[in-house]
Amino acid sequence: MAIIEIDQPCVVGLSKVAVSDTHGEDSPYFAGWKAYDEDPYDELKNPSGVIQMGLAENQVSFDLLEEYLDKNAEETSRKGISGFRENALFQDYHGLLSFRKAMASFMEQIRGGRARFDPERVVITAGATAANELLTFILADPGDALLVPTPYYPGFDRDLRWRTGVKIVPVHCDSSNNFQITRTALEAAYDEAESNGIKVRGVLITNPSNPLGATIQRSILEQVLDFATAKNIHLVSDEIYSGSAFSSSEFISIAEILEARSYRDSERVHIVYSLSKDLGLPGFRVGTIYSYNDKVVTTARRMSSFTLISSQTQQLLAAMLSDKMFTENYIKTNRERLRKRYEMIVEGLKSAGIACLKGNAGLFCWMNLSPLLDEPTRECELKVWKTMLHEVKLNISPGSSCHCTEAGWFRVCFANMSEQTLEVALKRIHDFMERRRKKNNE
Ligand SMILES: Cc1ncc(COP(=O)(O)O)c(C=O)c1O
Repeated sequence: MAIIEIDQPCVVGLSKVAVSDTHGEDSPYFAGWKAYDEDPYDELKNPSGVIQMGLAENQVSFDLLEEYLDKNAEETSRKGISGFRENALFQDYHGLLSFRKAMASFMEQIRGGRARFDPERVVITAGATAANELLTFILADPGDALLVPTPYYPGFDRDLRWRTGVKIVPVHCDSSNNFQITRTALEAAYDEAESNGIKVRGVLITNPSNPLGATIQRSILEQVLDFATAKNIHLVSDEIYSGSAFSSSEFISIAEILEARSYRDSERVHIVYSLSKDLGLPGFRVGTIYSYNDKVVTTARRMSSFTLISSQTQQLLAAMLSDKMFTENYIKTNRERLRKRYEMIVEGLKSAGIACLKGNAGLFCWMNLSPLLDEPTRECELKVWKTMLHEVKLNISPGSSCHCTEAGWFRVCFANMSEQTLEVALKRIHDFMERRRKKNNE
């Protein structure tokens, strides 16, 4: 049965959660996806269609994964191992120990071996979406708040707020210091919440940042942890893009900061991770919460019953993630390919006269189209976004959908397409900017 999207008169009542709009799906971030779905670009079948640059997907290293999985499937069937019975009956919410061990060791590898992870603290969840929601349920009560630096991933509006009833209080960052988090901005957001009678329970950072495509510096991480300690609140670090940092030394995990401090104040710290970005497997729904707080680990494990990873997926990935030769080569090659893509898009935009924030991670860059705005307002930003979508036929995400207060910034994804498609997208932008220049000179 098709899902009816138009408003049907509501005869039978629904819950407050069902009718609330805190899911945030009304934003241009999701509207752009719809426009793409209705007219998707295809090199042969629809060369004038919309190119999807609003989706933070990583397809640049699929060949390595496919090759590994094909080879492995052959070997498994040659050895006569199916594991069917074992998989069919396994439903323990602790997850397979082999999978937790493999995940912990993969997380260490991505951090260049500079942090240790204990498999006993790895809680499995169906992706980072479930991990972030689950943590919010554990750390805060309905009506309480989490501080989240802006610009932030639009999905947080849904994941942190919708079903939990928790609020997000934005910590406003801007281009004056390359959108870095400051103690002043953290204090201002905290004070604003408290003065409105809202209890702040934690601060959630994304490192590397989505949408900025940049890692957070060590000194800033230390500052955020000091702030959380001073206020006696939690610190959640969403490190889902850690493997996308162009080199492992450029990414500092909160785990390294804790290790350097001999785990002082660690019980307030929780890390979220998933394989959706680093391995490009959002469809597998593989995520984790890694908490340094025993009570949070136990509660999260119980709650994870709602969002487990299938045993078949755990088994498949445990084997792949334990294969050190494969993972080392994958992590290295993937980082190199993402850096190459990043350089390609930044150079292409530069030659069209467009600047980007200097990035060193992620599947996207943070593009500055503020010179194209008639006025520095959200309305003018959305006007440019519509032109990009309907005239240039590119779906990019306006900064306002990431709660950026400074108008004119856009997130542009580059890893969810082939190099050829990226070239087409860059040519479209180049031509559009050329047309504008000519028109302005007339
Ligand atoms: C910062 C951040 N956290 C969480 C998610 C959700 O990831 P998953 O597919 O693992 O649920 C995303 C996806 O784009 C993200 O960018």
